[in-house]
Amino acid sequence: MAKGFYRSFLTIGLAALLASPAMASERERINFLLHCSGCHQSDGSGSPDSGIPDMRGRIGHYLRLPEGRAYLVQVPGTAQSSLNDGDTATLLNWMVSSLGGKEVPADFSPYTRDEVTRLRGNPLADVSAARTQVITRLQKMGYRIE
Ligand code: HEC
Repeated sequence: MAKGFYRSFLTIGLAALLASPAMASERERINFLLHCSGCHQSDGSGSPDSGIPDMRGRIGHYLRLPEGRAYLVQVPGTAQSSLNDGDTATLLNWMVSSLGGKEVPADFSPYTRDEVTRLRGNPLADVSAARTQVITRLQKMGYRIE
């Protein structure tokens, strides 16, 4: 009887843990490690000298503009990963909270699966031109971003 009690207690505990936000964010961290960190490093610092931007802080700036928000989905690393649209949305939301820093606008609304589906269906013709456009606009708004 005691054994059965402990077994059900453990099962309930495990189910609660798996459903908890802490476990959900662990899943996003693992997705980031598996799908993105090969280029971006596990801390998002990238290799700026080899053309992999340091995402820390800067993705928060991009979210100030609709085209910047879209760019974070349309950039090939995100759009062309093997993750489905729902997992991509939650991964991006995890990245915003873990790597976006204080630059994330207070009114940021989380990415949704439908938004990722729509943006993936609308790829960027010229990635580096789109990136430059977002950065130039942010600089004109007075944000210090290179
Ligand atoms: C093969 C290397 C590679 C992988 C893997 C990769 N990226 Fe990237 N990522 C890049 C490069 C290079 C850029 C700069 C823009 C460009 O040229 O595509 C970039 C830019 C970005 C940016 C915009 C940052 C900026 O300042 O332009 C985001 C957001 C991003 N990647 C997300 C991801 C996510 C999410 C994953 C995993 C699902 C991922 N990337 C996987 C190479 C990669």
